[in-house]
Amino acid sequence: KPQLLIDTDPGVDDALAILMAHAHADVHGLTIAAGNVGLGHTVRNARTLVDLVGMPTPVFAGCPTPLVRLPEEDAVHVHGTDGLGDVGFPEPKAMTSDEHAVQAILRLTRERPDLTLVALGPLTNLALAVRLDPSLPQRVKRLVIMGGAVTGLGNTGNIPAEFNIGFDPEAAHVVFEAFPSFDLVDWEVVLRHAFDQLEFDGWVATGDQRATFFEQVFRTARAFNLKRGRRGVIAADALAMAVAIDPAIVTRMEERHVAVEMDGRLTRGATVVDWSHRLGRAPNARIVMEVDQARFGAMVRRALGA
Ligand code: BDR
Ligand code: CA
Repeated sequence: KPQLLIDTDPGVDDALAILMAHAHADVHGLTIAAGNVGLGHTVRNARTLVDLVGMPTPVFAGCPTPLVRLPEEDAVHVHGTDGLGDVGFPEPKAMTSDEHAVQAILRLTRERPDLTLVALGPLTNLALAVRLDPSLPQRVKRLVIMGGAVTGLGNTGNIPAEFNIGFDPEAAHVVFEAFPSFDLVDWEVVLRHAFDQLEFDGWVATGDQRATFFEQVFRTARAFNLKRGRRGVIAADALAMAVAIDPAIVTRMEERHVAVEMDGRLTRGATVVDWSHRLGRAPNARIVMEVDQARFGAMVRRALGA
């Protein structure tokens, strides 16, 4: 079984990814970032998810803001003002640990050399962790990042920037420079692996409490996607989680050096990929280009009890 430590800003697709992780792996902690919504909401949402899965996964609150500039946008239009579709869940029972997320990342990776780090939100916590302890990359088995838009097809106000990288470009820069190798699941591969809406509706109509939960939290995002003319179910963090749980799901991958634009007037937060090896730098990213969609679907279905 994969052994996971998840850094996340739940978030509707984060929620699905966290359900997948608990169905298919051992989860040693949820370290929480600000991103889709503020840290207060993302921490509470993580606790709600821990209650739902009924496992004692510790939740560690992380950084409330990006490293340098305050965020220019959030994602409440997709995830709801509370980050979980404004369903109005009761106060969760699961508690937040006293330890800071950044310290927890350093401690847990010291205790267990077999951890795969899965980053599903802005990279603020990971960047601080690696600055505090530059030996962190050598201690993790794998790092899987959901982020970036490798040919510039972003999803934020800065056209080529994807949300997680655009929210905290300096943090992404620190992480991309510090880790010699990571798997990158970008927004574009996510768009190529959307689920058919009707099929997905069947998966969440089974009566399993995880499926019912997801059907509720997904309503706002579903309506947003339909309004944008997207017919499919786009589940960015779930795809990254599938790659983290089962690397063999990847059917095509490109290794390239990827850097982050921190200054551009229109391009801040863009991921710049050295597609034609012009810099002569060793590739840092294993860019996931294609996965086995049927296996991805099966992993999601099982996590929903379908
Ligand atoms: C990413 O941004 C967030 O809104 C999602 O949770 C995902 O992590 C997609 O760009
Ligand atoms: Ca996320």
